[in-house]
Amino acid sequence: MVFLTSGLVALLGLGLRSIVNVKSQDTVAGVASSQIVTIDTRKFNVLGIDGDFRTNASSQLFNPTNTTPPFFQAFDPAFLSVLGKNPSIRSIVSNPSFAFAHEAPIWLPSTDEVFFASNDGGPLGMSDINNNNQYAKISLKEVASSIQAAGGDSVNISVTKLDLPDTVQMTNGGTGPFRGALLLVNSGRGPIPPSIALVDPSNPQNTTIILDNFFGRQFNSLNDVKIHRQSGKIFFTDTFYGFLNEFRPSPLLPGQVYRFDPDTGDVRVVADGFNKPNGIALSQDGKSAFVTDTGTIGGTPTDPATIYKFDIDPTTQAFLNRKVFAFTDAGIPDGIQLDSKGNVYSGCADGTQVWNPEGKLIGKFFLGTLSANMIFAGKGRLVIMGETSIFFAEIAAEGFDLSFES
Ligand SMILES: *[C@@H]1O[C@H](CO)[C@@H](O)[C@H](O)[C@H]1NC(C)=O
Ligand SMILES: *[C@@H]1O[C@H](CO)[C@@H](O)[C@H](O)[C@H]1NC(C)=O
Ligand SMILES: *[C@@H]1O[C@H](CO)[C@@H](O)[C@H](O)[C@H]1NC(C)=O
Repeated sequence: MVFLTSGLVALLGLGLRSIVNVKSQDTVAGVASSQIVTIDTRKFNVLGIDGDFRTNASSQLFNPTNTTPPFFQAFDPAFLSVLGKNPSIRSIVSNPSFAFAHEAPIWLPSTDEVFFASNDGGPLGMSDINNNNQYAKISLKEVASSIQAAGGDSVNISVTKLDLPDTVQMTNGGTGPFRGALLLVNSGRGPIPPSIALVDPSNPQNTTIILDNFFGRQFNSLNDVKIHRQSGKIFFTDTFYGFLNEFRPSPLLPGQVYRFDPDTGDVRVVADGFNKPNGIALSQDGKSAFVTDTGTIGGTPTDPATIYKFDIDPTTQAFLNRKVFAFTDAGIPDGIQLDSKGNVYSGCADGTQVWNPEGKLIGKFFLGTLSANMIFAGKGRLVIMGETSIFFAEIAAEGFDLSFES
């Protein structure tokens, strides 16, 4: 959940051309792509007394080469392995007047479609206390055929809106498929409770709400969700953005992370102590969890813009041993995804940032505008939600299976 719009974001040229190391196509370890800009971070460790320092982490972005987005900003050779030999990134659909591509991205392998939600209650979201947001899908088959037909020119594929029942209000998180269904978390709207829903991806998209309260108390505004594939338990975050975006009442619970067992109905808290918890991801082995804290949104630069890493207790599944994993230089880390090698991707004010498993920032899918979330669509395809655009990156990395069947 984010407040900034792409139109507000300016690029910051640090005026450091002389110390920027932009490698040309053939100098980067066998990687040939004009869209890669390699930056030696040592060149920026000292800006000097006349340096142009950034004073606003959301509106002034770190683009010292003044490269026109979208491009790949590489800080470490490990990012070149993520990108592979001929990476590309482009917008595949855009609508400057509607933030139709915000969060809740789900890839459905059986149809090769990606589902996603529009911005709920934020700028250009066209949703508020009186109006629900939109859940929609695109076809990656259409992406492939459109790119081929366009022969390098930009494409603008079609978006198909889903017709969901009134119980599904302000969808902000999604994952799965879970037992064949899309698993959505909804922030609720006005008195309509936040909820977790299972949605049949095929027509007529029948929907079952599987949770809408904690022992009779409404959640504040559910934000994001992942399935623990080893146990089938559902982990989700509850935060304050419904209230802050003026479509939900005052919060009546802390911002925290819950675990839900859809078979027994057990629902419990597994982590607290956040300012504004937001995105969540679980490691492929089910032993670690990552939670973003978007506390700084709203303009307090001293609040967290931080990804925390936890160990998942093998018995209770409580989140233990909270550690700072990374702090973003740009806005806040919003939705979070992992690739099959354990690299961590999060949507930030300048696009999608990538850290290696030890928490080193290795590179960015630099969009020059914020992305709230993204999803791997199998091997070599990353679909990035860019609010008023969707970006499609063809790279080497791949995600891992996020679904649960049995
Ligand atoms: C892309 O198509 C949509 C309709 O599907 C339209 O609203 C939008 O303006 C188009 N974008 C561009 C950049 O032409
Ligand atoms: C959709 O309806 C079918 C048939 O009643 C049912 O088996 C299935 O569980 C439903 N799916 C969801 C997600 O509600
Ligand atoms: C940073 O810039 C954004 C976008 O212009 C603005 O909304 C926000 O208030 C600014 N933050 C601070 C702390 O000035």
